[in-house]
Amino acid sequence: MTMISEANKAKARALTARLTLEEKIGMIHGAALFHTAPVERLGIPAMTFDDGPMGVRADTHDDDWAPLHNTRDSVTYLPSGSAVASTWNPALARLTGETLGQEARGRGKDVILGPSINIKRSPLCGRNFEYMSEDPLLTAVQGTAIIDGVQESDVAACPKHFAANNQETDRLDVDESIGERALREIYLPAFRAAVQQGGALTIMGAYNLVNGTQCCESEELLDRILRDEWGFDGLVVSDWSAVKNTEASAKVGLDVEMGVTPNFDDYYFARPLLEAVRDGRVSEADVDRKVEHVLAVMDALNMLGDARAERKAGSYATLAHAQAALDVARESIVLLKNSAGVLPLDEHGTKRLLIIGANADRIHSLGGGSAVIKAVHEISPLLGINGMLGGNVDITYAEGYWAPQVNQDDTWQEDSLENSAQDATAEAERTRRLRDEALALAREFAASGDPIIFIGGLNHDYDLEARDRTAMDLPYGQDALIDALLDIDPDAVLVFVAGSPVAMPWEPKASTIVWNWYNGMESGTALAETLFGRVEPSGHLPETFPMTLDDCPAHAIGTFGLEGHVDYTEGIYVGYRHYSTNDVPVRFCFGHGLTYTTFDYTDLRVREADGDLLVEFHVRNTGARPGKAVPQVYLGLEGTGEDRPRYELKGFTKVALEPGERRQVTVRMPRADALRYWSERMHGFCVAPAAAILVGESVGDLRLHAHIG
Ligand code: BGC
Repeated sequence: MTMISEANKAKARALTARLTLEEKIGMIHGAALFHTAPVERLGIPAMTFDDGPMGVRADTHDDDWAPLHNTRDSVTYLPSGSAVASTWNPALARLTGETLGQEARGRGKDVILGPSINIKRSPLCGRNFEYMSEDPLLTAVQGTAIIDGVQESDVAACPKHFAANNQETDRLDVDESIGERALREIYLPAFRAAVQQGGALTIMGAYNLVNGTQCCESEELLDRILRDEWGFDGLVVSDWSAVKNTEASAKVGLDVEMGVTPNFDDYYFARPLLEAVRDGRVSEADVDRKVEHVLAVMDALNMLGDARAERKAGSYATLAHAQAALDVARESIVLLKNSAGVLPLDEHGTKRLLIIGANADRIHSLGGGSAVIKAVHEISPLLGINGMLGGNVDITYAEGYWAPQVNQDDTWQEDSLENSAQDATAEAERTRRLRDEALALAREFAASGDPIIFIGGLNHDYDLEARDRTAMDLPYGQDALIDALLDIDPDAVLVFVAGSPVAMPWEPKASTIVWNWYNGMESGTALAETLFGRVEPSGHLPETFPMTLDDCPAHAIGTFGLEGHVDYTEGIYVGYRHYSTNDVPVRFCFGHGLTYTTFDYTDLRVREADGDLLVEFHVRNTGARPGKAVPQVYLGLEGTGEDRPRYELKGFTKVALEPGERRQVTVRMPRADALRYWSERMHGFCVAPAAAILVGESVGDLRLHAHIG
């Protein structure tokens, strides 16, 4: 774990003492869209930031979002945060981070603006594809592993957005009323882990307000919780244009102001701060503290003095990194349903194949908002399948529905501070024609018994920063197409490329459903390998897929996106904490994911050693194929005298088993953490006296039961 040492801090203090006020001010605001000003006389370089979580963004001009259009900023496109979470494999999250860190360093960056670790409160949030999960523990484990991997390359990770940036509607000024229990148990734990276990050197302050206070002005969040309670001694950077008031942000632990507009000298932490210090409204000591944070991080990254010779060089766009992207993608794909055993398809027996759906023939690296990147390459599903099967299989492709190839325009970021709406112009005529063509082909293929694969879902016109979806329904008339397709062939393989759940009203009619996320540059390769059984699927859902939007706690109990104010009235009952406690049926539950084999769970035993709970059990592969199981441990806390969710994820692991192989598995967790809860009565963390312990393959498939206390 990279840490800020006492030596880093001492050096930062000594250097700060030699800086003029003007020099200090230059170091704590954007002198360009992605960097601060250097102080050349003292060998202090600029601090260079860049997006983002799925790969390093293409270079822009210093004062203009237009790209430089060179060939040297093409990069590795990594699977999105939701895909990484879906592997339930911290080693792969770490590999993602290592790759991202090397690429960022290779591109000459100091801080990479990710991972995105906000909690998925609603299926509609436009940035859900970047975020990891509805569960704080899964987010914490996977997010921490990414951070640890990034920082190995002398680059700082920047977990974002602190805190509770759970929606895009009115993101700049939405005020979220969140109870302290929900904050402490749901929205803050991943950030706490990022700091205390991941050693994150920087953090990004969010745009929104929490309980009436702008996050970048919040003494409660930035000073009391982040710095005093969690011991964070790194740098807090604002989200781009999230600072709104010089004095309010200067007085709290917000260190660097960055923005989306090129009027750098007018930034709140530029001339206005200089003037505020000169006329005594802000003390110079407040500025010094910020500069010391910047310098301490620079020193920890080997950016100062002789240490520069030792700074890691990084590398990007390498074959090894493409392989890493593929390794992660292979474990993130979720087999949601395979009730007729259609998958895996027979690679050698397949002579003819029909592929329907625009997402078969689209790539996604070119959109999404600040997470957009210029990928060295991106294998579409159609290319992945065709490339793998080769020339002896006759593949027919029908678009099936109309959807654009999303290619974000260069001015996106300048416009991103405005609310916007989707343009849902119905292309009715074209839609009908494409559907009819596809269905005619489907009839023909179904009659000859040749496989049909539908590949649809969303794209970055829907999974997009600065805008939320307005409904969970599939766009572009896909529901009608899928419904008709299933009447022709209920065993059509339905694949979805998307970053957030969609309504699946036709699901009972379908036998085979695969969820693919935005899965990086090798997405199509991993998908082809999975569909044809070269790779065993092992992804599990990091979030619930509800039946309808009305079932979702943020919509059913609370409100979402209402005129600048949102009440988190569902409290801690986010995602499965609501569905499982209140017996609300869901389409696919949290933790769900099938394989091409089956596993048997037996012999649960719970022991305690050195303050840890050791949850031990046997898992056996009872099928004919190898596979990876994801045993999940849930606790139901008892004896707290307060209402609690029925189940809460407290630990998990991933185990590879050959057919017939049986293994003893131990999931270990600190007892105090497992039993910890925020007491509404005590206004603090307490330890529950007792708990039910459940082990299974998802929150809806719990196989073993024990009790402690
Ligand atoms: C986003 C951040 C991003 C920043 C810089 C903002 O619009 O919210 O996540 O890192 O822009 O591009």
